[in-house]
Amino acid sequence: MPKFYITTPIFYVNDKPHIGHAYTAIAADVLARYHRMSGDETFFLTGTDEHGIKIQEIAEKQGKQPKEFADEISAKFRLAWDTLNISNDGFIRTTDSAHEDAVRKALSEMYKQEWIYKGSYEALYCVGCEQYKTKSELVEGKCPDHKREPEVHAEEAYLFKLSHFAPEILKRIKSDTIKILPVTRKNEVVSFLEQEGLNDIAISRRKEKVAWGIELPFDSNHTCYVWVDAFLNYVTGLGWSGTGSNLSPETLNLKFWPANVQLMSKDILRVHATIWQAILLALGLETSQTLFIHGFFTVDGQKMSKTLGNVVDPIEIAQKYGADVLRYHLLREISFGSDGDFSLKRLEERYESDLANGIGNLVARVLGMTEKYTSGEVPQVTTSALSNIWDVYDAHFAKLEPDQALSAVWAFIGELDKFVDTEAPWVLAKTDRGRLNADLYILLENLRHLGRLVWPFMPATAEKIFAQLGLPDELKVGYDEGKKWGGLKPGTRVTKGDGLFPRLEPA
Ligand code: MSP
Repeated sequence: MPKFYITTPIFYVNDKPHIGHAYTAIAADVLARYHRMSGDETFFLTGTDEHGIKIQEIAEKQGKQPKEFADEISAKFRLAWDTLNISNDGFIRTTDSAHEDAVRKALSEMYKQEWIYKGSYEALYCVGCEQYKTKSELVEGKCPDHKREPEVHAEEAYLFKLSHFAPEILKRIKSDTIKILPVTRKNEVVSFLEQEGLNDIAISRRKEKVAWGIELPFDSNHTCYVWVDAFLNYVTGLGWSGTGSNLSPETLNLKFWPANVQLMSKDILRVHATIWQAILLALGLETSQTLFIHGFFTVDGQKMSKTLGNVVDPIEIAQKYGADVLRYHLLREISFGSDGDFSLKRLEERYESDLANGIGNLVARVLGMTEKYTSGEVPQVTTSALSNIWDVYDAHFAKLEPDQALSAVWAFIGELDKFVDTEAPWVLAKTDRGRLNADLYILLENLRHLGRLVWPFMPATAEKIFAQLGLPDELKVGYDEGKKWGGLKPGTRVTKGDGLFPRLEPA
């Protein structure tokens, strides 16, 4: 059975999740659900990144211990993912003791093999990014993302021989052994590596500077650089214990490495394409298969920021409109891999046009007619009247284009609407009962397919469709079997329940 391992970045616990984080989680969830549904053995990992100076500073400001603070925010991420129906198999926290133990072991291993050595360094550091910056990355002396002047770090530290791995990483990226998608992002990384190369980086701070971190096992005066700790989540989250490159021993989940898709936005691509891959090479593990860089989006045309007060809370949106509405809107509105914009106005427009008047109306119409003309009983099976939707859908998923798969599903809804309009069952009810029954079967069976098609995107909606079609166990039907014509058996009772997407109350 093919396997599919997908990860999101682990999110900083400096604040509760916003819609940008939710987008990554939802997109990963759609891909994970698709792969699970199509029979792949799937593991979907997400979690929280909890160490480092940024968290230490914020906790201090709030008069809390960093762990106590991290506990609170990490719980908010979990609550948000539950609210959004995210089906992650694992949720890793970098303060989990198994993770911390594994990081210590991995560090010892790298130190033993002399990939880590003691030295000193002088560099500019942005606390907002938790990353070192080159002068060329600054705009008017400040980090362009955090509008804050970087700190000058000049101190003793342990360094990681990143420079050693640069040629191998470049080779693997160029040959797509480490695939970076969309290809424009690959090109950016390649030209960066070709022009600037990689320098060794500090992977520790003295404890008096950063106390909130994993202590280096070979020098208790230092804590580990938060990114090294964080990257390892992708393997410790599968149960990797920190040593050895054999990734299929007793712990079942380790067979999932390497990740098929590591999802993130452009802000953290460079570190994933360089430091993370180098750590994997240093530890003798396989490098990532695909880094997929989805778009970074603004809200109402502006970068989300606390100062602007335009930070969107995904839980509030899910509570007001429903999780499926947010899931649908984000996947449909933002072309996967391109930057985009989020606005409530657009969400409400799509709610009306695509959900209430689109899928909601179609399902209600077909079930209403079935109740009216056949007392809710599914008529005799007709010969197949299914479009090539499944081929199109699978092809888009194979190319990591869930947004295109979703558009194709909405085109399919449009075809079914057209079928109702041209066949006019209300006329056939008076003129041709045979054709009416055949048409109703075609429509009802197509709704079953529609439920399956929307499930990865809108699981709660799909389940409502199956319940209304009298198919509570539909999701237990295997993928290929479910794609065949005729799954809906004659005589099944359907019921037009509540509308899937009631009209929005005027604000
Ligand atoms: N903790 C690090 C990642 C470590 S992974 C080993 C981190 N955390 S973060 O909380 O800042 O999350 C960044 C990620 O959140 C982005 O790469 C992206 O996946 C998501 N997004 C945050 N804001 C976003 C938008 N405005 N738009 C789209 N995605 C956004 O970096």
